Amino acid sequence: MQTAGAALLGAALGLVPAAAHTAPPLDPDDASVSFLPTPQAVVDGMFDLAGVHPGDVLYDLGAGDGRILIAAATRFGIRAVGIEINPRMVEIARANVRRAGVEKLVEIRQGDVLEADLREASVVTLFLFPELNLKLRPRLRAQLRPGARIVSHRFDLGDWAADAQVTVNRYPLYLWKIRAR
Ligand SMILES: C[S@@+](CC[C@H](N)C(=O)[O-])C[C@H]1O[C@@H](n2cnc3c(N)ncnc32)[C@H](O)[C@@H]1O
Repeated sequence: MQTAGAALLGAALGLVPAAAHTAPPLDPDDASVSFLPTPQAVVDGMFDLAGVHPGDVLYDLGAGDGRILIAAATRFGIRAVGIEINPRMVEIARANVRRAGVEKLVEIRQGDVLEADLREASVVTLFLFPELNLKLRPRLRAQLRPGARIVSHRFDLGDWAADAQVTVNRYPLYLWKIRAR
């Protein structure tokens, strides 16, 4: 079964969501909380592009079902924090974290990415609507430390020039590195 939210986002992105089975129905009128999962090959591509390594602290903004956080904790043994606005997705992500046995490393916070404290992050992952990416820029610029990396699945950050771009599964991944101010 496909969720209403995933269908909405899928329609917006011009694709048919394939693996949104775990999410309960979302409010079809609220596109801002639509969930569409990043495929595992793309998650790996995001990690490779960002050069994720032990010692990093990864934040996934709009954590969905927690898959990026669980993969980061499992693959690199790193602390990973997800910010997720939808309470039902928060429940699902927390259950997935427990099921994966990575509760000591992964934390899911319910909240709006536009109000989140990002200062601890050395890697930020994004798969959000373009407008939300744009609204996030001041926060990313103000809070991330030099050396932090941002990697976005599919959508760029407006006129921020990416440090690198690759294509995985037909879609672009973008990398930005925070430099000293
Ligand atoms: C396209 S999904 C990506 C999920 C996951 N990061 C992934 O790549 O598999 C976007 C997620 O962001 C959440 N979201 C949307 N707007 C948000 C906001 N303002 N603050 C926090 N989460 C938000 C949605 O509820 C959804 O779960």
